[in-house]
Amino acid sequence: MIQEQLIETVLLRLADGLPHSLADINADDLACALQQLDAWGLQPSQDEYSRYSIVRRLNLLDQAAINRTLFQHKLQNTQQDTQQGSVLVSRSLDSTNEFLLTQKDLPSGTICTTEMQTAGRGRRGRQWHSPFAQNLYFSLLWHFQTQPETLKALSLVVGICVADTLTELGVENIRLKWPNDIYLNGRKLGGILIESRIFNQQSQQMVIGIGLNLAMQPSDAEQISQPWANLNESAVKIERNQLVATLASRLQQALQQLEQYGSSHYLQRWQQYDYFYQQPIKLLLEQEEIHGICCGIDTDSGELLLKTEDGRIHHFNIGEISVRALHNQKI
Ligand code: BTN
Repeated sequence: MIQEQLIETVLLRLADGLPHSLADINADDLACALQQLDAWGLQPSQDEYSRYSIVRRLNLLDQAAINRTLFQHKLQNTQQDTQQGSVLVSRSLDSTNEFLLTQKDLPSGTICTTEMQTAGRGRRGRQWHSPFAQNLYFSLLWHFQTQPETLKALSLVVGICVADTLTELGVENIRLKWPNDIYLNGRKLGGILIESRIFNQQSQQMVIGIGLNLAMQPSDAEQISQPWANLNESAVKIERNQLVATLASRLQQALQQLEQYGSSHYLQRWQQYDYFYQQPIKLLLEQEEIHGICCGIDTDSGELLLKTEDGRIHHFNIGEISVRALHNQKI
């Protein structure tokens, strides 16, 4: 058996978190596989009966199961193209965004997800903390045929899609923070990073990356400097494969609609999720900060609307601004 398959076999056998005899596997091969599991942070150990186990039970991503569910969703939604845009699952990658940015000839709608990222990227050049099998690291490639103007509000549409997906799965209290953050119970649950692959006049290829914390262990999140939330805090139990398929289906549909009809009808629903609507906020620009009341977004452009003390409403563009609550702690 080649090493990769062997690692997969050992991983699947130990994934239930219970002790297992692996005596049928050659000792050297087993040692290599266990070393890989250790590098993934799974801390394999041996008990007094020579049985092996890992640190916790894992709900592993399953490529075949996700694609089956995605196919069912597409049939139900009568999406014309049920074949395109399948999901690729990997156990470890540098970054799912990087994978889709660099692979050749992938069809529009292709999704990549992985158990772990070794170089996960956040916005503003930050690292995105990506421990094994605890969270969701999800990227989608889309070849846009429309002019870039309609793409300005793309990240807001994606945020609304993520919020809709989680709400549909029964999670309450999901909110969005302009322009790219997903909030649960007032703390950051996830974020969106959109990167561009190639640009020409005919087609613009974008990679939409989404990271969501599902069951991150506090010990794995020590470097995270802001209050964060896990999806498993919510009352409903979310199955990861189900989440990937539902999110994939919703996003693929939304992007088709975005190309046909523009973003406005999506952006009109931003307010229902807006965490700061009518709240005092400050915007941090490169050189200055501006205080005011958050008045939601302009539903044509996706720009943030901020009412300053003099009663004027100012528009702010995506990308240069971060939003912080004025009264409470840094978020
Ligand atoms: C943010 O800074 O809030 C955006 C975080 C985006 C993280 C996701 S995880 C999947 C995809 N791959 C990456 O390297 N980054 C994005």
